[in-house]
This record gives sequence, structure tokens and C-alpha cells, in this order.
Amino acid sequence: MIKIQNQSEYEIAYRKSVENPEAFWAEVADSFVWYQKWDKVVEWNFLSPEIKWFCGGKTNITENCIDRHLKVRGNKIALIWEPNDPKERYIRLTYRELAERVNQFANVLKNNGVKKGDRVSIYMPMIPELAISVLACARIGAIHSVVFAGFSSASLADRINDSECSVVLTSDGLNRGEKQIPVKRVVDEALESCPSVQKVIVVDRLGWAIHMEEGRDVYLHDELKNAEKYCAPEPMDSEDPLFILYTSGSTGKPKGVVHTCGGYMVYAEYSFRNVFQYEESDIHWCTADIGWVTGHTYIVYGPLLAGATSVMFEGVPTFPDPGRFWQVCDKWGVTHFYTAPTAIRSLMQAGEDHVLAYSLDSLKVLGSVGEPINEEAWHWYHTHVGKGRCPLVDTWWQTETGGIMISTLAGVTPMKPAHATFPLPGIQPVLLDSDGNELAGNNVEGYLCIKYPWPSIIRTTWGDHERCRINYFATYKGYYFTGDGAKRDENGMYRIIGRVDDVINVSGHRFGTAEIESAINQNSNVVESAVVGFPHDIKGQGIFAYVICKEAPENAEYTRAEIVETVVAQIGRIAKPDVILFVSGLPKTRSGKIMRRILRKIAEGEYENTGDTSTLLDPLVVEEIIGQAKQVRNT
Ligand code: WTA
Repeated sequence: MIKIQNQSEYEIAYRKSVENPEAFWAEVADSFVWYQKWDKVVEWNFLSPEIKWFCGGKTNITENCIDRHLKVRGNKIALIWEPNDPKERYIRLTYRELAERVNQFANVLKNNGVKKGDRVSIYMPMIPELAISVLACARIGAIHSVVFAGFSSASLADRINDSECSVVLTSDGLNRGEKQIPVKRVVDEALESCPSVQKVIVVDRLGWAIHMEEGRDVYLHDELKNAEKYCAPEPMDSEDPLFILYTSGSTGKPKGVVHTCGGYMVYAEYSFRNVFQYEESDIHWCTADIGWVTGHTYIVYGPLLAGATSVMFEGVPTFPDPGRFWQVCDKWGVTHFYTAPTAIRSLMQAGEDHVLAYSLDSLKVLGSVGEPINEEAWHWYHTHVGKGRCPLVDTWWQTETGGIMISTLAGVTPMKPAHATFPLPGIQPVLLDSDGNELAGNNVEGYLCIKYPWPSIIRTTWGDHERCRINYFATYKGYYFTGDGAKRDENGMYRIIGRVDDVINVSGHRFGTAEIESAINQNSNVVESAVVGFPHDIKGQGIFAYVICKEAPENAEYTRAEIVETVVAQIGRIAKPDVILFVSGLPKTRSGKIMRRILRKIAEGEYENTGDTSTLLDPLVVEEIIGQAKQVRNT
């Protein structure tokens, strides 16, 4: 367990990690349980790409998350589950209880035919069984693919089919604030087009009478009756896949990012311990959903690997009122609170009174993740939540990086509002210009790339290695390309500016513009569409869609609602366009390429300054679009 305690230790660790990465990571990895030690720390090339960490090593991440803690922390609380409704009873599981639940669930999977290497899709709300099922898969070497339960049946079906999952784990329904949402119905719809699925295991969360397909669907509580209490962990090769997590890129359908057992384990723990400066009695609360990578690494794996107590929250920040986050912090004595800027901005809007009603005395460290945090939100969070005494870590990372890459180490390295600041030891970021030259020195801005592998770097995209190469390793030869632009200030601190590709970050959730366009185009009225992001006060970025219809809509509001419904059906509620503008044409170059730069300007309300339009096929179309935009926005 290596924990950096002060600035000079950080500098020493960083230097060592660059000068001798193998020795550095070997020392970190030594504190884990390995059934067989690795022969070589790292083998890599960024051209194919081929990256292997702890080669030849054998371990099981659940041995490290659970079993090894039982002797010393068997009675320590591993998971605190806080329900959506504050009146419902919470659940707390000690490490011993968690062990039992994971082992039994693992046996349920085995009894239902799941074997090492099989893919299991998990489409579940934030209930304890979600964390338990993730670990149960890892225990037997099945590859989990968690799909956020807000995605539509079409999205779920795509993800199940892409990785040919044989089993789906789900629940009858879910609670979200005042609403209850039928989850199993979404699964049933998806499975109409998923031939690989043999079994569906259902958690009875709401006690609903739901459709159970004979021979396919079983209830977890029934299966548990026949499941043994112990399941030996499957010895996994370091490079065996641990999980697939789908994420959007700038082109086509979401891709299945693959993480492997050894490297991900080492980096999840190392980054958790160091960024948050974890101590044994801490109570760590990451408010993300386990459907996203943040939940994978900093609700489940990172904290449990460290033997920490992790809080898992079923609800939403505004139910029953916008004080809920702070009430839960006080209730459980949360020491580490890790959330997204979008949540902070929406709570900021609800007013200080909701925060001031709680003491928040237990808090020691605040964290931010998922999108750039603007200075105003940073100060509000630091002042009103952290009372000016808690370090605030702005953590930059990605699904593909597996863990936090650039961040302040809480209380150890300096912080600066809206800056992720410095790389963790082992991480070698560079800024490149558009020709791929490294920008030396400080006060520079460029494309953020990483020039040396770290243990939890993406290994491949499921079923399509070439896509992984093209997306991340082909733009700048010899580098991992993040898709983000960044600045390095006069002190060498990094500030992430945002995506430089066609990815929109809405409330910390990534969508490809192409993905939303193809959803919109499914509407029978639509001929063509173009989607861009625009600055949004709460969500960070909003979705602005320019749509060409077959016939000019008679009732624009009605057609808009229909298009929104199409997107909801294709992707899910989280991808609803904020603005839909009907246009008769799009600004295109003579070669037919849509000039998104112009559309982005218009979406931002910058009508005067659309730049050079002389290369457009039809320059007049820009005037028309601006006219429409002004009407819709009344500006
Ligand atoms: C953005 C989430 C600025 C960035 C962990 C990245 C951030 C994308 C930050 C990854 C941050 C994440 N500051 N931008 N602290 N953290 N991003 O895969 O654009 O859901 O490429 O992973 O979110 O999103 P993902």
C-alpha cells in the first residue's frame, strides 16, 4: 500500500515512475494477493496497440476486494446502501456479509450456466445486488458489462448483442425520486432481438408482478435457495478481461472498452488511496451510478480493494428535496464526497439554505469528476459544502483510462479552481499541436495525449481491435489520444478544456453527435440532421439538433415531441435534445461535409461571427438557419 504523504514524496514518486516505471509499478503491485507472481511488469507498443501489465501473473480481484480483508476487517462495514426514499431502511454489509453475498451470487451464476469468459450484461438500478453481481462475475471470471439502467431497450440490445452476452441480470423496476420505472419491461423488449441470451436473473426490488418468461427468467431469491455459501475465486490471468463498459466515441455506435484483471486492479486501488488520501476510518461516497466507469472504479473496486467503507445511493440529489446529499453526508458521517459538476450546479441553483441546514462536519475531502468544473461551481462547492476547509480534487480521467489520471492529491499537492492540476505518478501527459509535435514548457494549449502506458489503460474495444487503434492510437503515432484539449498553465498545472472531437458531454455523460443524429434520423419525418453541443448552465453542454424534415412540420411542437420520443426510444432519456431547430438545409462544403463549426457558433447564439462561409455549397443557408435560431430562442 503506497500512500504519498507530502509534496516532496509526490515529486520523488513521480520521478521514479518515469525513470523506472517497471520498478515503480512492481512495488505498488506487490501489496496485492497474487496466486502467481508476474514475470514481466509491462510489455507494450502503442502502434498495434498491444499492452500487457503484470504479464504471466495470476490473481482474482475479488480475493483482493474481499477475502484478504476478512481476517482484519471482517466486521468492518464494506457497503452502506442508502435508499431512494429516506423513510425506507438502509442496508449495511460488513466485509464478511459482503463475502457471503458475493460467493452465493457467484454460485447462482454458475448454476445458471455462466462460465469463465462468458459475458454477463447487468442492467440494474443502484441496489446492493448491483455491486454484488459485479463482484460475483469477477469471482468466477465472467466478464461483466454493466449498462446504465437509463438506457433504452434498443441501446441495451445493441450492447448485449455486441458482446454476445449469455445472461442478463436485472430487477423488476427501479425508484427514481417520486417515480418508479419498469426495468424488466425494457429488458423484455431488448431481448426480442438478442439471440445470445439464455437466462435472465431478476432481483425483486419493488415486489411487482412482472412477466417472467418460462425457461428463461428466474428470480434471484429463488436461485439463492439452491446456492452454496462459498465459491472459490477463479484464478485469472492478469490480462484476462475483467469487464466491458460501453462508451460513446465520435463515430458510429458506442464501443465496448475492455479492461483486464491485473492492471485495472492495481491502478484502481493506487489511484483511490492516493487521490483521496484514504485512511482506515473514512466513509467514502461517490454519487455516480455503477453504470458508468466512475461507479465501477470508485464505488466498487477502488474502495473495496483498499478495505474502505463505500456508500451507494439509490436516489437523486433533489429527492425529497435538494438537501438530500447533505442529509446523507451527515447521516453516515461521510468523509469523502465525490460528485459531478452538473449536480453541484443544480444544487447551487436550489440555494444555500439546503446546505446550511446540515453540519457537514465529517467531510474531509471533496471531489469532482466527469466534465470541466467552472470556477463558480468550484467556489460554491469549496465554500458551502467544504466550508473552505476541505481540499477539492478535480479528477480528470475517462472510461478508457480506468482510473483518475490528472488530479490534485487531497491535501498533498496544490489545487487551483477549474484545474485538474498534476498527473498521478505513472502518468505521462503531453500536449501536442495539430502536427503531432509535443509542446514544450508551460503556458501552452494543445491536444492531450499520454505517452507511456499505465496499468489500467484500455486494452481493446470488444470484438474490434482496429477500432481501438484508430480511435486512440492512430491520430498521433506513438501516443494514446484522449480526445480532450487542455492547457498547461505557468506552473505546469493542467486545465482540461473539453472534447476536441464530435463527442458531447451532457451532465458528465458522453454522446457522439453521430449517435444522436442516427437516432433522430430514425423518425420517419426526418431526412437529415446535424447535432452539436452548446454551453448549458446546469448540464455543462446541451444537445442542439438541426433537423431537415420531409415536409415542413405543420405543428412544430408536435414534431419536436415526436423526435424527442424517437431519441428516447433509441438511446434513452439522458440523450434528449434540448433544442430542435427545423431547417431546410445544412451548411456543407462542396464535398458534402457538414460544417459543424458554423452550427456550433449558431447554437451558442453567436450569429455575427460564423467565420468564412465562402467554401460552402450554399452560403445562403447560414442566413436562413440564423433566422430560425433567432425565432426559436427569441433573441
Ligand atoms: C470529461 C468519466 C474536465 C473529458 C470519468 C473526458 C473531464 C470525458 C473531467 C470522459 C474533469 C472527465 N475535467 N473534463 N475533471 N473528467 N472529463 O468516459 O472530456 O464518462 O474525456 O469518464 O469526460 O468521460 P467518461
